[in-house]
Amino acid sequence: MSPRVDVSGPPLVRIEGVTRRFGPVVAVDRVSLDIPENAFYALLGPSGCGKTTLLRMIAGFEQPDEGRILLDGEDMTRVPPNRRPVNMVFQSYAVFPHMTVWKNVAYGLEVTGVPQGEIRRRVEEALALVRLEGMEARRPHQLSGGQKQRVALARALVKRPRLLLLDEPLSALDRKLREDMQMELVRLRHEVGITFLLVTHDQDEALSMADRIAVMNAGRVLQVADPRTLYEQPRTRFVAEFIGTANLFEGRVVARCDGTVRVRMEDLGEVRLPAESVGNGTHLRLALRPEKWRVDPERPPAADLAVAARLVEMAYHGDTSRLHLEAGGRRLVAVVHNARRGGDPRLVPGARVWLGLAVADLVVLED
Ligand SMILES: Nc1ncnc2c1ncn2[C@@H]1O[C@H](COP(=O)(O)OP(=O)(O)OP(=O)(O)O)[C@@H](O)[C@H]1O
Ligand SMILES: [Mg+2]
Repeated sequence: MSPRVDVSGPPLVRIEGVTRRFGPVVAVDRVSLDIPENAFYALLGPSGCGKTTLLRMIAGFEQPDEGRILLDGEDMTRVPPNRRPVNMVFQSYAVFPHMTVWKNVAYGLEVTGVPQGEIRRRVEEALALVRLEGMEARRPHQLSGGQKQRVALARALVKRPRLLLLDEPLSALDRKLREDMQMELVRLRHEVGITFLLVTHDQDEALSMADRIAVMNAGRVLQVADPRTLYEQPRTRFVAEFIGTANLFEGRVVARCDGTVRVRMEDLGEVRLPAESVGNGTHLRLALRPEKWRVDPERPPAADLAVAARLVEMAYHGDTSRLHLEAGGRRLVAVVHNARRGGDPRLVPGARVWLGLAVADLVVLED
């Protein structure tokens, strides 16, 4: 269960038409976003799309060329980083190598003159939150990558920021450790009541951790939604292909009646789709997620549409298999669960199969 995200009041962070240029490069391009208090918010996008630059502007290490950033309704333009209720954990986690774990975490409080007794209490609390009790006396070289990462997190948490900015904090970790840390972060968020803004280029990470995701490309925000909507209803081709895999089809509206249109799809045949304001002849692009196909050696009785295909290749992934298929001269991708149909011995390269789809699973894209 997620903690309640307050969307009624003003957002904790409001980004208003923010642009940041570096010479000819527009790193962040007219971005507007609202981040509600207590959200676990993710910024997702490919390398170089402006994620770190946006985070650095929220933290106050960079200034926007245009637009402004408000925290709790207050314009941050003239507020220096150390006066913002924000803490940032950087892309390459920074811990002081010559200090013990304890010192690393206490340091940020010591330099701001917090009394000793309180420092002790808060450091203990922060170390318990990231589960590093008993490691206080160690130095960073005596820790694993995941433990070092947790020291970096404790250093940020101990200062009790309203907003914690996490810039790809897990990218240096191996897969198992990364999954453990993902769960730790989700747990932490439940315990501490801090708003998290996580930057990542890993779609699985964003989908599994965040309750709201902004997808960025080339400095722009393309879509903001909860994970399910983003995956099930991508608005654009970029989002459809960046979040997961998509089979894309071109189609043309050939008839309309009562809020539905008949679309002739290249290589697929005709389907009827709900649509209000599209005229005859309109060109449409549609997407279908690979696990929505019903793959069957026999023609499926219940599908809205069935396509004959040839299985070209099959990649085994343990829980699922990914099938590369060819139908009418084009490549399609399907994913099957191995506990079910994937275990069918008739599914071998070269096999003739049927791909069934339900029209409701087709998503009409805007571009
Ligand atoms: N200080 C700078 N001077 C010049 N160009 C910069 C500077 N910082 C960032 N850029 C450019 O701005 C763009 C966005 O960079 P940014 O670091 O925000 O991307 P990112 O989304 O964080 O990428 P990654 O996933 O690789 O970390 C890139 O084209 C980058 O080269
Ligand atoms: Mg970055």
